[in-house]
Amino acid sequence: MEILIRTDSAAVGATAANYFAHLIRNKPDCVLGLATGSTPIPMYRDLISMHENDGLNFSGVRSFNLDEYVGLGPGDENSYWTFMHEHLFDHVNIDEDNVHVPDGLAEDSNEACRSYEADINLAGGIDLQVLGVGTDGHIGFNEPTSSLASRTRIKSLLERTRQDNARFFSSLDAVPHHVITMGIGTVMESKCVMLLATGDNKADAIAASIEGPITAMVPATALQDHPYAILVIDEAAASELKLHDYYVEVEHNKPRWQVIDR
Ligand code: GLP
Repeated sequence: MEILIRTDSAAVGATAANYFAHLIRNKPDCVLGLATGSTPIPMYRDLISMHENDGLNFSGVRSFNLDEYVGLGPGDENSYWTFMHEHLFDHVNIDEDNVHVPDGLAEDSNEACRSYEADINLAGGIDLQVLGVGTDGHIGFNEPTSSLASRTRIKSLLERTRQDNARFFSSLDAVPHHVITMGIGTVMESKCVMLLATGDNKADAIAASIEGPITAMVPATALQDHPYAILVIDEAAASELKLHDYYVEVEHNKPRWQVIDR
């Protein structure tokens, strides 16, 4: 795991956007794995600005989102489909046909999950998957005890996650109980995984994810087993890390040729 510690959420977004832009410039038909939540918003803002000001070209880019609420879709203000259009897709030149978000309105959800996996494979797999993390350590919507080998499927949300996400809805009752999410096994097949975390409410989850034992009780710990996992976190989210200074030193001494964030 590579741990990159930044001062604040804007700096986390800037680093993450640099990695995405680097990939898009080097592989114009790359496959991006995208995430929702407050954490990646600064990254999306920076990518939009790179598109507008530096000609970052999304015309060949393909994307797959991690998850969606069951019962919500393109017409709903709280769907992840809408979130992605508002925060990225409507502002860059990505082809709508290349955009994939799990179908929360599918009549046959199991079939929708199977075909989502098939579409990812058909695209050649995900090159770079961005992740946030829940306060309980979930990634995507893989709640604690999710199988580390799980594939795209329906999950039930923990009450804690519904409460965390209620701020986007009119009330807690409006937050769906069920979601479709890529599995942990699906995420682990991405060539590179980049987890972003900001704020002190993520500090415990981050300490457990980086320095705790691999366990299905903290799904983000699965990334310890990924050959190319990068965690970009701010000082607040890093505040419980025992080896904080070591991670800073490692990045400081990185050979120049390895540096992508500039
Ligand atoms: C939701 C999403 C996750 C996201 C998490 C954290 O549960 N399904 O993908 O990582 O929220 O969100 P935030 O970044 O708003 O803290």
